[in-house]
Amino acid sequence: TERSVQVKLVLLGEAAVGKSSIVLRFVSNEFQPNKEPTIGAAFLTQKCRLEDRVLRYEIWDTAGQERFHSLAPMYYRNAQAAVVVYDVTKASSLEKAKTWVKELQRQANPNIVIALAGNKIDLVTPSSDSASPAPESEDEADDATATPGETTASGEPESLRQVPRDEAEAYAQEAGLLFFETSAKTGEGVVEIFTEIAKKIPID
Ligand code: GTP
Ligand code: MG
Repeated sequence: TERSVQVKLVLLGEAAVGKSSIVLRFVSNEFQPNKEPTIGAAFLTQKCRLEDRVLRYEIWDTAGQERFHSLAPMYYRNAQAAVVVYDVTKASSLEKAKTWVKELQRQANPNIVIALAGNKIDLVTPSSDSASPAPESEDEADDATATPGETTASGEPESLRQVPRDEAEAYAQEAGLLFFETSAKTGEGVVEIFTEIAKKIPID
């Protein structure tokens, strides 16, 4: 017979990185282009089916605005899992994510499963199935110094990406986190976050 385990999960990260949008995608398979900022926190639930069991996620979607920072411990206390979100088009949001990870590793349940999610990947790989960057175009080919996020001599944005995948993934590995690049807009990588976390939650 199938057992349903409750798993308390918290989402943390800078304002507007897409925490609520990731939850909305996971829970309702929807996307809202002009989602309003979360006030305080929102609570949602969703089942997650693995081969051998079903988990029921109890999700606390926290508010990223700085004025709500002090509320966070109420939501990560006793959490078995955390998703720390940054925006791949905003380098400072990865720095904020790192401070959340440090806070969780210091203050939360020592067995907490933490996933790092680089969201808004659709802005970096438009109309591409692959997570790898598109080949450089001819006009950019001889600009050896071009890096993601910079503009070319013509003033065209080369890429909106400000956080290289390798850099974030190396950090995640070093800090012992699961790592994903996601798009709440297209759904890429979203279910995977919750499925991979579920696999790490011990059967009691
Ligand atoms: P707070 O509640 O203030 O902490 O923000 P949040 O992290 O919950 O962000 P939210 O989900 O409200 O998204 C902020 C904005 O980014 C909204 O306009 C979303 O539509 C947009 N957004 C979220 N995820 C994505 C994504 O994957 N791709 C794109 N292009 N836009 C996204
Ligand atoms: Mg929100």
